[in-house]
Amino acid sequence: MYFRQLLNDETACASYLLGCKSKGRLAVVDPHVELVDEYVTRAEAQGAEIAAVLETHVQADHVSGLPALIERTGATAYLPEGAGVDFEHHPLADGEAVEVGNTELEAIATPGHAGAHHAYLVTDHARAEEPWFALTGDAVLVGDAGRPDLHAHGDETVEEMARALYRSITERLLSLPDHLLVYPAHYAGSVCGRGLSGHPASTIGFERRHNGALQHGSEEAFVDALVRDIPPAPDHQAEILAANRAGRALASQG
Ligand SMILES: [Fe+2]
Repeated sequence: MYFRQLLNDETACASYLLGCKSKGRLAVVDPHVELVDEYVTRAEAQGAEIAAVLETHVQADHVSGLPALIERTGATAYLPEGAGVDFEHHPLADGEAVEVGNTELEAIATPGHAGAHHAYLVTDHARAEEPWFALTGDAVLVGDAGRPDLHAHGDETVEEMARALYRSITERLLSLPDHLLVYPAHYAGSVCGRGLSGHPASTIGFERRHNGALQHGSEEAFVDALVRDIPPAPDHQAEILAANRAGRALASQG
């Protein structure tokens, strides 16, 4: 398989270009608007098409590269069902899979950071019939769990979001085998977590043992710790969310 983690240091966002070289089909996960040329250039260099563009959730801290990528490549857009976006896309249900050649990305509903949030469990069928790694979005980060406040509104209070996140992490992600690699959506410098590592990859087993947010023995203790000391909201959060729901650039950028 082909796999590249592409980083944007300005916002400390990690995105992924991955898929099947032999069948020439790639997917992009959590694309950053600043890296659209790079995904396209790298795919071309592999002689592969970008066939799918997925989001783990509607991003609140940076403008997504999804609309531009769809326009340039004709790929299908995939978002978690209930994401509340206003553009054409395929809403992914929990457990539904997207295949790009021999590479499969299975949606694992992991609400909590956002009400509609999926992790993607990736299997390279050319190597094995079991998952190799997980793209965990803002659910499990390297050294923290995602913040529960950015997408909270109405009945989905910050505390309810934190409770949902606890269940997502313990029931859906920490139940995965220790050896699974973890590739999150952010790393140190991001406003989306506290005390994140500057190393943007880990394993389920290492995070289970050493991630400070995952050491609480109960839902109550996890929630108490997560809602305390919430970092400041990202700059232009409302504008960024509005742009990402509409599938366009920031209004101020034309
Ligand atoms: Fe996020």
